[in-house]
Amino acid sequence: MVKICCLGAGYVGGPTMAVIALKCPDIQVVVVDITKSRIDAWNSDTLPIYEPGLDDVVKQCRGKNLFFSNDIEKHVSEADIIFVSVNTPTKTRGLGAGKAADLTYWESAARMIADVAKSDKIVVEKSTVPVKTAEAIEKILTHNSNGINFQILSNPEFLAEGTAIQDLFNPDRVLIGGRETPEGQKAVQTLKAVYAHWVPEDQILTTNLWSAELSKLAANAFLAQRISSVNAMSALCEATGANVSEVSYAVGKDSRIGPKFLNASVGFGGSCFQKDILNLVYICECNGLPEVANYWKQVIKINDYQKSRFVNRVVSSMFNTVANKKIAVLGFAFKKDTGDTRETPAIDVCKGLLGDKAKISIYDPQVTEDQIQRDLAMNKFDWDHPVHLQPMSPTTTKQVSVTWDAYEATKDAHGICILTEWDEFKTLDYKKIYDSMQKPAFVFDGRNVVDSEKLREIGFIVYSIGKPL
Ligand code: NAD
Ligand code: UGA
Repeated sequence: MVKICCLGAGYVGGPTMAVIALKCPDIQVVVVDITKSRIDAWNSDTLPIYEPGLDDVVKQCRGKNLFFSNDIEKHVSEADIIFVSVNTPTKTRGLGAGKAADLTYWESAARMIADVAKSDKIVVEKSTVPVKTAEAIEKILTHNSNGINFQILSNPEFLAEGTAIQDLFNPDRVLIGGRETPEGQKAVQTLKAVYAHWVPEDQILTTNLWSAELSKLAANAFLAQRISSVNAMSALCEATGANVSEVSYAVGKDSRIGPKFLNASVGFGGSCFQKDILNLVYICECNGLPEVANYWKQVIKINDYQKSRFVNRVVSSMFNTVANKKIAVLGFAFKKDTGDTRETPAIDVCKGLLGDKAKISIYDPQVTEDQIQRDLAMNKFDWDHPVHLQPMSPTTTKQVSVTWDAYEATKDAHGICILTEWDEFKTLDYKKIYDSMQKPAFVFDGRNVVDSEKLREIGFIVYSIGKPL
């Protein structure tokens, strides 16, 4: 039986390995992590992440050919294939701070593999890493190998949160990069055979290592660039009376452009888009390509602009002050169908409103009060000026309350900001909400989820991204 071990039981490691276990009953999969509480949660009835369909997949295989464990060294030493799916955040200090990927977790994982391995291994980069990371990892492994043969593969993950299981069941493509040596190609074929259990062969792309590593950064950069493009248009729509939904529909009808990823929003969030573009920017700068670096940097600048534009709209519409006014925030996760708040635009919007002394009442169906308070208490990391971190005032968190009920969040509020596109926000009883609010009652729809005309009929003043007032 082929044995797989995955380092990192996070948003990628957990779902990816669960699907491999489900689709490959002849393979034993063990997911390990340095965080004991995460592993305990994977072994419990309440999984550590919320992802539609995940519970079902885990329940079908856990204890059969899918295991979660803290005994990292044992499972690494027994595995034939080791996936490394640890976090690779942006560096916050030192060389490259604000842009470069922090590979501390990756390097310590590689050193541990070299220490405990007693037989040949295929080591798979699942984490998103800078181009040429495989070369660095190869050096670490081979210099500490005691004659053991390590083959490094790049197999970036393209799943999106909220649709992870669907994406893993039916991926647009699986990408595997390896060395162009006979041993490298043999390792590529071994990994290909794992995916071939359920992915059609013509959708399993094989490339050299650097193409695979760069394709992942490029794919995220292209996706984020579409959002910044449509968000840039949304500002122009508001200035001219055009409607961004009509514009993106018309533009997306061109088969060369396509309709996806053209929804204007308060800004993109999530743990990866900003991090991976900054990583790309840093690689361009290091390779003497400042023009290319600046091109991609602009995608993030527009995203920052979109978030601050939204805050400015809220404050200016509410007679230029929100001091001591209750603002209800509906949605805190970075997108619907996840409880993940990493880099969510809600953090920047809430901080902007708190800076203007608003009182904020937050409701999100999947995010806990603890998580929200932690996110808002954290210093904002300014990627553009990484050395000037502003300390948060300790009093600000007192201006924030969190509730599990949208009606309670909006009661007595002067305004509502919709920051995540949860489906349930479409079907709330807005008449009831209007009756319980201060007047004039404002709605700022950062995701274009509500029917603005209906809300206006009720009496709300409605601002929707990129739409005529
Ligand atoms: P995560 O923070 O949810 O999970 C990473 C896990 O790795 C953590 O639980 C951490 O405790 C563990 N870890 C760190 N060092 C370890 C070590 N030495 N041994 C064992 N475990 C260790 O991160 P994530 O969202 O799963 O992302 C992981 C990687 O995948 C990142 O590089 C990310 O860019 C990439 N990625 C993420 C997504 C996504 O949707 N979240 C999608 C595609 C790619
Ligand atoms: C994204 C990519 O879609 C995945 O392919 C990739 O694997 C992943 O990043 C990663 O590398 O981490 P994810 O961040 O989970 O996935 O979710 P997306 O659906 O891409 O949404 C990202 C952000 O963009 C969200 O805040 C979302 O609300 C926003 N968005 C998305 C828009 O504002 N408009 C759109 O049209 C689409």
